[in-house]
Amino acid sequence: MTIGFFDSGIGGLSVLAESLRRLPDQDYLYMADTLHVPYGPKSQDEVKGYVFEAVERMMQEGIDALVVACNTATSIAVEELREMYDLPIVGMEPAVKPAVEMNRATGKRVLVMATALTLTMPRYYALISRVDDGGIVDSLPLPELVPYCESLQFDPAVLEPYFRSKLAAYNLDDYGIIVLGCTHYPFYADILRNVLPPHISIVDGNAGTIRRLSALLNRFGIVGHGSGRVKFMCTGNEPAYLDKMQTALAFVSENLARREEAAL
Ligand code: DGL
Repeated sequence: MTIGFFDSGIGGLSVLAESLRRLPDQDYLYMADTLHVPYGPKSQDEVKGYVFEAVERMMQEGIDALVVACNTATSIAVEELREMYDLPIVGMEPAVKPAVEMNRATGKRVLVMATALTLTMPRYYALISRVDDGGIVDSLPLPELVPYCESLQFDPAVLEPYFRSKLAAYNLDDYGIIVLGCTHYPFYADILRNVLPPHISIVDGNAGTIRRLSALLNRFGIVGHGSGRVKFMCTGNEPAYLDKMQTALAFVSENLARREEAAL
């Protein structure tokens, strides 16, 4: 069976890395919308059209389930995609609910980092009003981070000052958890860790998304007989980008393996 993963660029590879670990018997098709990345600064209507086009290409390739491995695309298009296509579709949303629950006992605040578009969508407001009954959630867009990630800029000498300046206005003693609400951001988890005080945890929605995917695959009887093979595609058909995706997937997979070993 083939599971499709979609993102504007390489961000969704952080989710695919989790899926390759948990569901190694499936095969994968990963599509990056290189013609239109980044989505964050664009309008809702523009992004919706791009998502529909790219997902249609994936359907023509043949997939058995779809993970919209992009918080921005999910908040704009997931409901309509579910109406358009008859297959299991898993979306992503910032992991605010578990973060609020984890923080309840400490009385500390939660800071959600995501794209400007995700943070201004009705879906995000609905999520906050559903789960943030104590008014402890703050939101911070990071518009430079997706362009950094797409150009494989992972130099701490650039990124640490960047995060410090973005966080300068916050009293970090008041915060207990940072939620990475964009699938590009986990690429920076280690760098962010270095600029945060040790009491702040960093969470993302990747593991929860793959748990949900796994439950849906079971429910629909989509049993994997594959070997974790990944076919990479991008809307711009750039061969160099296909290489970049391989490098980026190796990078996030190693980070994930290292974090899991450290947690054992
Ligand atoms: N990776 C995407 C997300 O999770 C979108 C990034 C972008 O294209 O701005 O929101």
